Amino acid sequence: MHHITLDSETDFDGWREAARALALNDVRPSDVSWRVAGGAPELFEPTEQSLEPPHGPSPQATFNVPARFVELAEIAILHRNPERFALLYRLLWRLRSDHDLLEIATDPDVAEVATMAKAVRRDEHKMHAFVRFREVGREHTSHFVAWFEPEHHIVGLAAPFFARRFADMPWSILTPDVCAHWDGHAVTFTPGVAKSEAPTADRLEETWRSYYASIFNPARLKVQAMQKEMPRKYWRNLPEASLIKPLIESAERTASAMIANEATEPHKPQKRLEPANKAEDMARKRADDIEALREEAADCRACHLYQQATQTVFGEGQQTARIMLVGEQPGDKEDLAGRPFVGPAGQMLDRALEEAGIDRRKVYVTNAVKHFKFVPRGKIRLHQKPNTLEIKACRQWYERELAAIKPELVVAMGTTAAQSVLGRITPINRNRGHLIDLADGTRALVTVHPSYLLRLPDADAKAREYRRFVEDLKIAADVLRKSLRAA
Ligand code: URA
Repeated sequence: MHHITLDSETDFDGWREAARALALNDVRPSDVSWRVAGGAPELFEPTEQSLEPPHGPSPQATFNVPARFVELAEIAILHRNPERFALLYRLLWRLRSDHDLLEIATDPDVAEVATMAKAVRRDEHKMHAFVRFREVGREHTSHFVAWFEPEHHIVGLAAPFFARRFADMPWSILTPDVCAHWDGHAVTFTPGVAKSEAPTADRLEETWRSYYASIFNPARLKVQAMQKEMPRKYWRNLPEASLIKPLIESAERTASAMIANEATEPHKPQKRLEPANKAEDMARKRADDIEALREEAADCRACHLYQQATQTVFGEGQQTARIMLVGEQPGDKEDLAGRPFVGPAGQMLDRALEEAGIDRRKVYVTNAVKHFKFVPRGKIRLHQKPNTLEIKACRQWYERELAAIKPELVVAMGTTAAQSVLGRITPINRNRGHLIDLADGTRALVTVHPSYLLRLPDADAKAREYRRFVEDLKIAADVLRKSLRAA
């Protein structure tokens, strides 16, 4: 009997190396037992021990298996079935003499491995969809932590998705088996922990719940489909879960009210009027660079964000504006309307501008990233922070807007805007409240993003931070006044 000990539950390389040596030495599947280091010992300790795969001259020098088997085995090995190592070795053994075995979908071994791989992929998909990060710490020391209980050993498989999607935020996903951590550069793994280690609520929870409630469309409710996609076992870790029951209960009532109301016009990107002729068009474009830029940006494919977004949301305002306000990226409302800062953050901005003595019609308002980045969660479009690649891909538009407007002052609201305006990642608190000279002669002012104010949980902090935001904008108002006086 050959007893093979793998390093971990997901040790595919170890399995592959051992399986290859066993098969080359003609060791029959029934003569191999598999275990994982640190796992439960065999019920009957072996009498004739061989803890290593066999060495020495092999009767069969080499053999090939289809590439598809390797792909399938790499995924199926993540299944929690304790027999998976033996099953995969049996399949490998049989493939040596029947190269096309994988084509026989009804073969019990082929069918079982395929079912296992499918279950692993489904679990990975569920993890992508149902991990909810909770913020631990505040502002610049924030870390985002999530708790998840995967059915299979998929944490390593699923982690790169989160590293790509949440590239700019440090996160940890805690699970009972293994924990994955992202520090902005690399994913690392530590042993699993108890659920009690995971945070249960944070200051984003209420925002998330209100968002879910506001985009929930009762007329499109399909309870069975929803429960199929979002099985109950995931609910306990979802902040929005407590809303599902009351929302379903009130859905019928609300849907009838919606039907009774008049239909609203669908949101469509606005069509521009065709120019009378090409010459006229060119003349207009020369006189109006921003309009030309807007048209060009409508087809922007510089990064993948255009694929999901409704449209490019370009900046708007007078070309002669002396102040340019830069936000992060359009939100849900902006994406539909095709205009920056028209949603809740826009309303907060409008109020603060007015208090600071700045007329929004006199400034140019834009975003560092011009497409809405989000993850669909059923009917929800959940805002995602753009990563450095996306910010860089979009910077050309900001630079060209800057060249066309030539403002005296650029106000960067939030970290993404500051990164685009200053050309580097920069902490807001260290830079806010004073004018910064940029290399091209423009001046910059860094402040918080209005959405940050919306997210603050307690009224005192909200009022205090709002005042600070208005104070920052007053510095911009001062620049504007001086500039108008000098003109
Ligand atoms: N947040 C932004 O940064 N920009 C918008 O246009 C809306 C919300």
